[in-house]
Amino acid sequence: MSDVLELVDVSVVRDGRALVDDVSWSVKEGERWVILGPNGAGKTTLLNIASSYLFPSTGSAKILGERLGGVGTDVFELRPRIGIAGVAMAEKLPKRQTVLQTVLTAAYGMTATWHEDYEAVDEERARAFLDRLGMTEFLDRKFGTLSEGERKRTLIARAMMTDPELLLLDEPAAGLDLGGREDLVRRLGRLARDPYAPSMVMVTHHVEEIAPGFTHVLMIRQGKVLAAGPMETELSSRNLSLCFGLPLVVEHHGDRYTARGLPLGG
Ligand SMILES: Nc1ncnc2c1ncn2[C@@H]1O[C@H](COP(=O)(O)OP(=O)(O)O)[C@@H](O)[C@H]1O
Ligand SMILES: [Mg+2]
Repeated sequence: MSDVLELVDVSVVRDGRALVDDVSWSVKEGERWVILGPNGAGKTTLLNIASSYLFPSTGSAKILGERLGGVGTDVFELRPRIGIAGVAMAEKLPKRQTVLQTVLTAAYGMTATWHEDYEAVDEERARAFLDRLGMTEFLDRKFGTLSEGERKRTLIARAMMTDPELLLLDEPAAGLDLGGREDLVRRLGRLARDPYAPSMVMVTHHVEEIAPGFTHVLMIRQGKVLAAGPMETELSSRNLSLCFGLPLVVEHHGDRYTARGLPLGG
C-alpha cells in the first residue's frame, strides 16, 4: 500500500511557539483516521499541512506521493486531489448560491476550460453526492439559509466532487444536535466502509463522533503526538486521559465509542 500522507519530524512554528511539534505520521491508502485532541492542540494546523495549504517550518511532508516544497511539486495540481470540508471553507462560500451550485463550483474550480458537455455530467455527480448525504430536497435552497447540519452535509458532498484521493474533515459534527450528529455518523460510516471511497482523515473532540469504519486514531496534545495507530489498541482510557489531561474512561459499545470522566474518588 502506498502512502497517502507521510510526515517526518514536522513542526510548525509561529511567534517562537511550535503549534505542531515534531510530528511523524503516516497514512496509507484506504485507511480512515480520526484525529483527537483538545482545543488548540494543533489539529487544524495539521490538516492545513495535509491539504497542502501550509508548509512545515521544519521536517518533511509528502502528500499523495508529492513532497511539499519539493522540486517538481505543484500544489495547484495536488489540491484538486484532496477534498476538504471544514469551517474555513464554509465561510468562503457565497451564501446566495444554491446547494446544487455550491457543490458544482468545486468542479468548476478544477476544470480550467468550461465546456457545456461537462455540465450535465458534473450536475449528475453533484446530485448523486448530495443524494448520498440526504440533501436531495435542498438542491435549490440558498446555502446561507441551511441549518448547521445541512451545511456540513453540503460541504462533504462538495469535497467529494473532485473525486479526491484524500478526504479531510475538520470537526464535521461540531454544532449538530443529537439527531444531526447520529445522522452524520451513519453517513460517514457508510463512506468509511466503502472500499471505493477516498482515504479519510477526520478531526473531532468527541469519541462519540467516531463512525464505524474508521480504522486508526492520532491523538495530539500541545502539538505533540501522544498516540498513533489502530483504533482498537490506541483508543484506550489511558491514552485519552493523557490527551485531554484528566482521568477518562473509554467504552466500546457495539461499533461505537463513548468517553466520560471518572467519578471523584472512584
Ligand atoms: N497563524 C497562526 N499564528 C499563530 N498561532 C496560531 C496560528 N494558527 C493557529 N494558531 C494557534 O495554534 C494553536 C493550534 O491551533 P489549531 O491547529 O487551530 O488547533 P485545534 O484545531 O486543535 O483546535 C492554537 O493555540 C492557535 O491559537
Ligand atoms: Mg481546529
